[in-house]
Amino acid sequence: MTEQEIIAIAEAFVKKELEKDSSGHDWWHIYRVTKMAKYLATKEGVDEYICELAALLHDVADEKLNPSKEAGLQKVRTWLQANKVEHDIAEQVMEIIGTMSYSGGGNPPMRTLEGKIVQDADRLDAIGALGIARTFAYSGWKGQLIHDPTLAPRTEISKEAYREKSTAINHFYEKLLKLKDLMNTPTARKVAEQRHQVMEAYLKQFYAEWEAEDI
Ligand code: ADP
Ligand code: NI
Repeated sequence: MTEQEIIAIAEAFVKKELEKDSSGHDWWHIYRVTKMAKYLATKEGVDEYICELAALLHDVADEKLNPSKEAGLQKVRTWLQANKVEHDIAEQVMEIIGTMSYSGGGNPPMRTLEGKIVQDADRLDAIGALGIARTFAYSGWKGQLIHDPTLAPRTEISKEAYREKSTAINHFYEKLLKLKDLMNTPTARKVAEQRHQVMEAYLKQFYAEWEAEDI
């Protein structure tokens, strides 16, 4: 199969796998991350195919959508083998999706530039206007409040605590506002700057409305 054919069937596979998701990992998240990963790859002068394939498959193995992370990764490995994706490419894709998750921010840096790019693309979709939308969608899915002024954000957060209940607004401090400085590539950092400002402006307006200070 050509690279283009592999990409096309990967798309079909992912659409089917994620069609029922309402936790923010739906097909359109994958669409945006893939598009951004291709852009970053071009700008950073890196192999587009590996980035595109890894971006397409990156959430099929998500812990929230599988009995375990291992089971999720096995699903991807089986797919890569069944579709005869070249061994070396398959290994790189597996490494990327096995190591890129945020999980509280304590994971070691990505080893390859392709991995750094896919991770940046995924993180860019967690900030800005879209990041705000996904945070509230995820919060609703999980049953969290929008905001509780009596609940302080947990700024230093463990892997376990990261999955515990919080509020949508606290999630900005626990993750989203940190992402700008965690971008791996200069191209992503530039996009992140602008999206970061959108969140800062949003929070300012949010607190003003909360206390009716915008009247
Ligand atoms: P990723 O798959 O990018 O590692 P997650 O699975 O952690 O991200 O989260 C999916 C989306 O939901 C992201 O936009 C993320 O910022 C948001 N999110 C994750 N945890 C929380 C939370 N506790 N409260 C609100 N939003 C969250
Ligand atoms: Ni993702």
